Amino acid sequence: MKGRIKSVNAKMEHKINNRKGEYKVDKLFPSRWSPRAMSGAVTKEELMTLFEAARWAPSSYNNQPWRFIYSLKGTKHWNKFFNLLGDFNKMWVKNAGALILIVSKKTFDHNGELSITHSFDAGAAWQNLALQGSITGLVVHGMQGFDYVKAKTELNISDEYDVEAIIAIGKPGKKEDLPKEIQEREFPSDRKKISEIALEGGFK
Ligand SMILES: Cc1cc2nc3c(=O)[nH]c(=O)nc-3n(C[C@H](O)[C@H](O)[C@H](O)COP(=O)(O)O)c2cc1C
Repeated sequence: MKGRIKSVNAKMEHKINNRKGEYKVDKLFPSRWSPRAMSGAVTKEELMTLFEAARWAPSSYNNQPWRFIYSLKGTKHWNKFFNLLGDFNKMWVKNAGALILIVSKKTFDHNGELSITHSFDAGAAWQNLALQGSITGLVVHGMQGFDYVKAKTELNISDEYDVEAIIAIGKPGKKEDLPKEIQEREFPSDRKKISEIALEGGFK
C-alpha cells in the first residue's frame, strides 16, 4: 500500500502530525486521533462500514461480545442518545452525525459462564472501528462522559450487558467553530514513553 512502511523492526523516529514515535510503525496508528470539530451528516452505509471493521476484532472463544446500539442525527432516536451526554460533551457532539453506544455481553454464548475478557474484547472492536474511521476520513471520538445508569434504562439494556462507552461519529469540521475552551484541546495528544508501559519481567 502506498506510503506504508516495509519493516516493523527498525528503531527509527517518525513524525505524524505533531506526534513523534520512538519506533517506526504503520502511520495508521499515529494518524488516528479524536477531534471534536465535526460537521455534516453520516450515512447508514458509512456506519455499517465501521461495524464491518469492528466485527473482525479477536475475542475470547470468538464470543464477539460487542453490541453497537446506534442513532443517526435527524432520526427519532437521536435525542434519546444525545440527552445521555454530560454538558461538556453536548457542546461539541451536537455537530456529530451519529452516536454509538457500545455494550458488551458478560457471558459466553456457548456455556453461559462469565467471560472475564468481555470488556477487553469490546475494546478491541472499538479500536478496529476507530481505525477504520480514521482511514476513511471520519471523525471517531469515544466518550465516558455520559449517564451509564440512564443509558441502561433508556435503551432497554438488560443486566446481561455492561455499558462500555458512547462513540461520536462525524465528518471533519472546522476547529474555529468549536467553543474557545475546546479549540485549545483540538490537537493530537502525546503518549507515555514505551519504557513506562512495557515492563520486562514484571513491576519492580
Ligand atoms: C473510552 C474513552 C472515553 C473517553 N471519554 C471522553 C469524553 O467523555 N469526552 C471527551 O471529550 N473525550 C473523551 N475521550 C477521548 C480521549 O480523551 C482521547 O482518546 C485521549 O485523550 C487520547 O487522544 P486521541 O484519541 O486523540 O489519541 C475518551 C476516549 C475513550 C477511548
